[in-house]
Amino acid sequence: MPVTVRVRVERTPGEKRVAASPESVKKLVASGAIVEIEAGAGAPARVADAACRDAGATIVAPGTPVGGGILFHVRPLTVAEVEALPSGTVTIGVMDPFQSTAAVEAARTGGVTAFALDLLPRISRAQSMDVLSSQALLAGYRLVTLAADAFGRMFGMTMTAAGTLAPARVLVLGAGVAGLQAIATAKRLGAIVSANDVRAASADEVRSVGGTFIDLDLGTADASGGYAKELAEDRARRQQELLAPHVATADILITTAAVPGRAAPRLVTAAMVAAMKPGSVLVDLAAESGGNIEGSVAGERLDVAVTGGTVALIGARDIQSDLAPDASKLYAMNCANFTALIVKDGELVLDFDDELVTGSVVTHEGAIVNERVSAVIQAPNGVSA
Ligand SMILES: NC(=O)c1ccc[n+]([C@@H]2O[C@H](COP(=O)([O-])OP(=O)(O)OC[C@H]3O[C@@H](n4cnc5c(N)ncnc54)[C@H](O)[C@@H]3O)[C@@H](O)[C@H]2O)c1
Repeated sequence: MPVTVRVRVERTPGEKRVAASPESVKKLVASGAIVEIEAGAGAPARVADAACRDAGATIVAPGTPVGGGILFHVRPLTVAEVEALPSGTVTIGVMDPFQSTAAVEAARTGGVTAFALDLLPRISRAQSMDVLSSQALLAGYRLVTLAADAFGRMFGMTMTAAGTLAPARVLVLGAGVAGLQAIATAKRLGAIVSANDVRAASADEVRSVGGTFIDLDLGTADASGGYAKELAEDRARRQQELLAPHVATADILITTAAVPGRAAPRLVTAAMVAAMKPGSVLVDLAAESGGNIEGSVAGERLDVAVTGGTVALIGARDIQSDLAPDASKLYAMNCANFTALIVKDGELVLDFDDELVTGSVVTHEGAIVNERVSAVIQAPNGVSA
């Protein structure tokens, strides 16, 4: 019996993305899978049921119980959603397993095999399945368009007979996937863009997309897997001090700094914000995970008093959903490409010799099989495989 892949309506309020597109359905069907999509699941992302049906999917009523097989999801599943799955179901999507610990436990006790695409090793072979990259790229673009809206001025230098408009100065802190896309986008709009990051490769990466790298002479802070590590307290404070003059002269400040498994590093203090020029705009992608900017609140725009006026402090939340059609197209293909690793000729075949499979699986056959997740959760029965 071929494996069934179910794509559901996302239940989180405000979430517009869907883990299906006509292209991803075609790919799954070609691999021998049966694809079921809950009616209307793609509507907020402008993915039509009819287009998915034409690509080979069956449209089912929302809430139709999952009968095993594979379930795709965009948002981490809730405990209740996991508990509703039959034992042996395979789930694929962003799981946020270090935060969603109750859902991980539910998957373990329910015999669900849960793959967290957010844990996928970031090796070249994983690029087509890398949801963190595909979604961060869109977030980076959206950060700039959010900032541009709030700025209410042009980004590029413009000379007219009536006078010259100065270019906007954009500062990007954290130049990973989202930050680099923000730099490239702001640059394309004509801004003068500078950036800082702590990874050794970041200076060249910033320059490659047209930004000026701000070298704070702090030394680098690389961890394994291409990620940054947390700066010690004195070095973090020094970074704030050295960034302060750059922040003060920025028209637009975009922050995207993150350290896996940690709260977002605090790069900008309230005093640094207070020293900015009136009319400046700050957008903090890390607002939901502690905030790179002191005082940012996820999903809110705050007008913060500075000498002579205010600055707009925007805490990002769910911004990929603002670009739901594109975000869904990439996310859906990420899921379909990952599925190609574990479905052969329509049958589910889990190859635990494949580092992409072992790197992303969190629970399997009643155990938490990811050591890092297990260490965080400390499963009551000590299961950590
Ligand atoms: N090989 C691949 O297939 C692949 C795919 C995607 C990403 N990557 C790499 O993974 C790395 C991480 O990317 P990401 O965007 O997911 O990272 P991330 O979301 O974990 O962090 C965002 C950025 O914040 C930076 N940061 C952390 N602490 C900071 C601080 N105190 N000050 C300034 N910046 C700070 C990080 O260095 C990173 O560049 C990058 O090197 C990227 O090129 C590789």
